[in-house]
Amino acid sequence: MRGIILAAGKGTRLYPITLPCCKPLLPVYDKPMIYYPLSVLMEAGVRDILVITPPDEMSSFENLMGDGSQYGVNISYVVQKVQRGIADAFIIGKEFIGDDNVCLALGDNIFFGPDFNAKLHQAVEGMEKNGAAVFGYYVEDPRPFGVVEFNDDGMAVSIEEKPAQPKSNYIVPGLYFYNNKVVDIAAGVQPSARGELEITSVNNAYLENGELSVVSLNQEFSWFDAGNANSLLETAEAVKEAQASGSMIACPEEIGFRKQWITADQLKACAEKLGKTEYGKYLAKLV
Ligand code: G1P
Repeated sequence: MRGIILAAGKGTRLYPITLPCCKPLLPVYDKPMIYYPLSVLMEAGVRDILVITPPDEMSSFENLMGDGSQYGVNISYVVQKVQRGIADAFIIGKEFIGDDNVCLALGDNIFFGPDFNAKLHQAVEGMEKNGAAVFGYYVEDPRPFGVVEFNDDGMAVSIEEKPAQPKSNYIVPGLYFYNNKVVDIAAGVQPSARGELEITSVNNAYLENGELSVVSLNQEFSWFDAGNANSLLETAEAVKEAQASGSMIACPEEIGFRKQWITADQLKACAEKLGKTEYGKYLAKLV
């Protein structure tokens, strides 16, 4: 399976912070935001990753993550020249996807919680069996998101993008698993009223064919869309608290090492590069 991180959003809801530097490069507590979706893809077993960046900022992403070999993955980069919506990722990434399956992670969505790996595997299996898989996550105010409606048997029956009157409190967060059909589906998506190629249109195409599985994430789980100043701070605080136990969330070097995609020597080199920071000391301890 191939992976795409859509990191092309300018982050206008975070101005002036994002005037010189786009949102996925901002810190979330002790690491750049993009480490979170990168780590999720790695946990899902993805090693070939395409990062879609805004124009003029590709080099900042390259300076941060390079070709990914320090984590044991292959990272390539491409610019989204015009922001056309999330489904555009499959049009831009068509060649990269080839005839493979693909997992798309939004650059500002942060996931962590107990049994996340099991949930990821459930989603991958759901996609392999049905065609596509997304998550459903309970929030108090679902109106700014894609909202999934279930029937009495717990089956998903509709997904609406930013509904004024949501039919449930379950939103579809920014982590999507698709078979190769997504390339053709995305190519046929028409712009919505807000002028975007909506990911919800892609999900509905699968849903209408009975090919979408929805994996629910329970309340112990943490999901954040770090899109404005309050949620950015709230996310950082939640990560800090969750890491107090001593294990780090979203540490790509650690995931690469655990999966045996990098050696202890490579991990040691990563630790040395980060010097005496808490992050560097954490890596050194793993070695
Ligand atoms: C996008 C998607 C929406 C999804 C959300 C998750 O919203 O369109 O379906 O629930 O990401 O963060 P946007 O970031 O465009 O407001």
